[in-house]
Amino acid sequence: GAAQPVIVAIDGPSGTGKSSTSKAVAAQLGLSYLDTGAQYRAITWWMVNNGIDIEDPTAIAAVAGKPEIISGTDPAHPTITVDGTDVAGPIRSQEVTSKVSAVSAVPEVRTRITELQRSLAASVEKGIVVEGRDIGTTVLPDADLKIFLTASPEARAARRNGELKGADVHATREALIKRDAADSSRKTSPLAKADDAVEVDTTELTLAQVIECVVTLVEEKRAAR
Ligand code: DC
Repeated sequence: GAAQPVIVAIDGPSGTGKSSTSKAVAAQLGLSYLDTGAQYRAITWWMVNNGIDIEDPTAIAAVAGKPEIISGTDPAHPTITVDGTDVAGPIRSQEVTSKVSAVSAVPEVRTRITELQRSLAASVEKGIVVEGRDIGTTVLPDADLKIFLTASPEARAARRNGELKGADVHATREALIKRDAADSSRKTSPLAKADDAVEVDTTELTLAQVIECVVTLVEEKRAAR
């Protein structure tokens, strides 16, 4: 029935419009919103800030349970804190971006963050849009709707560059391809499309078209149950 919360998983590589789409869909449908990449960035920020050697998975695993990470799930104003400090700005730094794949490949980090994600998803009343890399495959395999967003490497680099303002498009493209390769090839819960996910290629679509497409899919799911 309509009273049951609806769970939407949106996965895909960077630069596919995942965050913009997820936030807009949640806002339009009155659902909560969770950016799981921000959680991996937050734990990475804490590791860097505490002098943990990013090349040492054992050292990372040993302290994976230490930082307290809290995500605010209002799509109009998503927030993230680590031990009470607002880290929304610093988690977007180049340093964190270049180190997040290594930290998020550590199984103890994934277990910790996955628990946070599941408990948040279980606590919402109307439903939630959760975006990431492994939401449909691992975190929420029973999601009502799974979307996998893709786009050509050129389109993804161009979009990322638009966000970064003035960055070198070739350098952005190389960094993005390297991070996706690392995220897709790690052993624990890699970036992957779930068998039952709907794949949406956004290369030739505007953001508004992608949003409309996903909103329609959610409404169809709701109507069907
Ligand atoms: O979506 P993003 O670029 O902010 O994500 C940052 C990194 O976090 C990404 O390179 C891989 C990792 N990540 C992950 O391993 N699993 C998720 N569910 C989300 C992000």
